[in-house]
Formats: sequence, structure tokens, C-alpha cells
Amino acid sequence: KQRVLSGVQPTGNLHLGNYLGAIRNWVEIQSQYENYFCVVDLHAITAPHTPATLAQDTYTIAALYLACGIDLQHSTIFIQSHVSAHAELTWLLNCITPLNWLEDMIQFKEKAVRQGENVNVGLLDYPVLMAADILLYDADKVPVGEDQKQHLELTRDIAARVNHQFGKEKAPVLKLPEPLIRKEGARVMSLTDGTKKMSKSDPSELSRINLLDPPDAIVKKIKKCKTDPMRGLVFDDPERPECHNLLTLYQLLSGKTKEEVAAECQDMGWGQFKPLLTETTVEALKPIQEQYKEIMGDRAQLESVLREGREKAAAIANTTLNRVKTAFGYSLPL
Ligand code: TYM
Repeated sequence: KQRVLSGVQPTGNLHLGNYLGAIRNWVEIQSQYENYFCVVDLHAITAPHTPATLAQDTYTIAALYLACGIDLQHSTIFIQSHVSAHAELTWLLNCITPLNWLEDMIQFKEKAVRQGENVNVGLLDYPVLMAADILLYDADKVPVGEDQKQHLELTRDIAARVNHQFGKEKAPVLKLPEPLIRKEGARVMSLTDGTKKMSKSDPSELSRINLLDPPDAIVKKIKKCKTDPMRGLVFDDPERPECHNLLTLYQLLSGKTKEEVAAECQDMGWGQFKPLLTETTVEALKPIQEQYKEIMGDRAQLESVLREGREKAAAIANTTLNRVKTAFGYSLPL
């Protein structure tokens, strides 16, 4: 079977963008692949973080993976910082990655503006750590949202550079991974501005629906979300980004096809559509929230899942790390 690797940062709550752009797709494809899903807690400290909640936030994401339907028969769940090979390979890759490749990353430029004068080296190095995450597992496919496309291209460029400098023609050191980006849901937009992506770092809570939002919060957020004054609801009108986004949310959360939703909603007004979207969202999140509560109630079980995950992940990661070290010319520890 081909291998899949992906991850989410334990920063705050997961929102519908993370779910529809990434995790839901992991669940859908997992039986076709051998999967590794990590909680990337080393990435989480590239922005200011709270030590008192980091461990708990990390467990929350692992529990949400399970609650969303990640199945341990097909998939391994682990915490990035528990497998030290991630940090080690990052160092080796740092030393072959040109600085200007990192300075050109869109997400770095955006986040650097936000952090002002306090930009740390980790934020610049974020994509190299992500490359290490992927390359350690010889991943064939990386299911992510649209915003990660450039990071995947960088990962391929780094792997190709290692192979060029240290590989033999018939024996490449690292495997070049491919992104798996679904068309629908790859870019879920903010509820308050249909031209901005839904994001954990948006200061307004009203801009996103979190997977653990109680029904009354969902009701409120959809009631207040931005719409437009036009009649009838349609997909793909560039003048109506909010309309397209809300119809897409309805489509993905209801499980209907785009054609079905287009037909159902073409004559609707917002007053009729909003309660429909609210009910659909509440219903879609209910089973996830129930599962989540159950999983968090049995901490020992969750810890045992993560312990086993770490062992399986570390075995593969350490093998790859040794292969790279050998190619670089290192002696391995005796
Ligand atoms: P993070 O935590 O920011 O996002 C996790 C996943 O959610 C997707 N996503 C979205 N998809 C659609 N619409 C949105 N509005 C939206 N917002 C976020 C992201 O594309 C991502 O798939 N750098 C990664 C974490 C990472 C990683 C990895 C991913 C670290 N190492 C290795 C894959 C493989 C990130 O953005 O996390």
C-alpha cells in the first residue's frame, strides 16, 4: 500500500476549514493507504504559545482525529514531539536548503507581518520541519488544504536536492511526495468575509465554526454571517463569494451533490437557507462531539493509542533518518 502522512497544529480549536479541507478527506481515503497522522506540536510554538495548555491542546487534537473517524486499523496517530527524528532530520535539511526558498514562502510572509519585530527563526524554518515530517515516512501522498500547496512543492524541491547531492541514480535517498488536494472544501472561507480563508488566527470568533462549538454558538454564527442582498442562491458567481462558500458548506456537510444543492437552493432567500445550514451543521457535528466526549473521558486509553502510535512512527522515522545520515556521510552511533 502507498503511504499517507498529514498533520494539524494544536493551536486553538479545529474549525470547519481544517475538517473539510483535511481531516474528513483523511477519513475517506484511509482504507486505501497506510496512514500516519501526527499532531504537529513542534510547529505550534512558532507563534507565541501558552505552556500551561500545550499538552492538553495536543491531546484534544488527537482525540478529535479519532472522533472524526480516523480508524486505528488503517491509521497511526502520534505526537510529533514524541518522535525526535523530526527535529533531527530538520537540522540536516536546514543545511541544504537555500535561505531564499524560505523567504519566498507566502505563509511566512503573511505570518511575519503579523508577528512584527518578533519573528523567530522557527517561523522561517516551519516549512523545513514540515518537509521532515513528510520525508521521514517516505509518504506517497499528503492530503491537505489548498493553503499547503506551496509547502508541498518546497518539500519536493528539498527532497530532490538531497537526492541530487547525496543520492545515487538508482538509489534516491528520499521519496518525492504528492499533495492530495480535493477541489471542494480545499479552501473554506471566513463567515465574515468570503474573500478571506477561515483561519484559527482570525481575531473574530464569528469568522469560523469550530468542531466543538455547541449548537447555540453555531446558531449565532450563522445568523450573523455575511451574506448579500441578491435574490436566489448560486454557486460560482465571483461577485458573490459568501454565497458560494455557504452553499459549499451546506453541500459538504449534508453529503448532497453540487447539482442537488444548486437545484434545491436556486429560488431560496437567506431567511430560508440560514436555518437549513444551521440545522445541517449542528447535525453533522453532533456525532463528532459525542465521540470526542467519550474519548476524552478515557485518558488511559488515549494515552495507550498515542504510545503505540509513537512506537510505530519512530521505527519508520529512525530508519529513514539513518539512511539520510549515511548518505550525508555520518557514522551511525555504535
Ligand atoms: P494547520 O493546523 O494550519 O491546518 C491543518 C489542515 O487544515 C487545512 N486548512 C484548511 N483547509 C481548507 N480551508 C481552510 N480555511 C483551511 N484552513 C486550514 C490545512 O491546509 C491543513 O491541511 N502546515 C500544516 C501542518 C503540517 C503538516 C505537516 C501538514 C505540519 N507538518 C506535514 C501535512 C504534512 C498546517 O497548515 O496546519
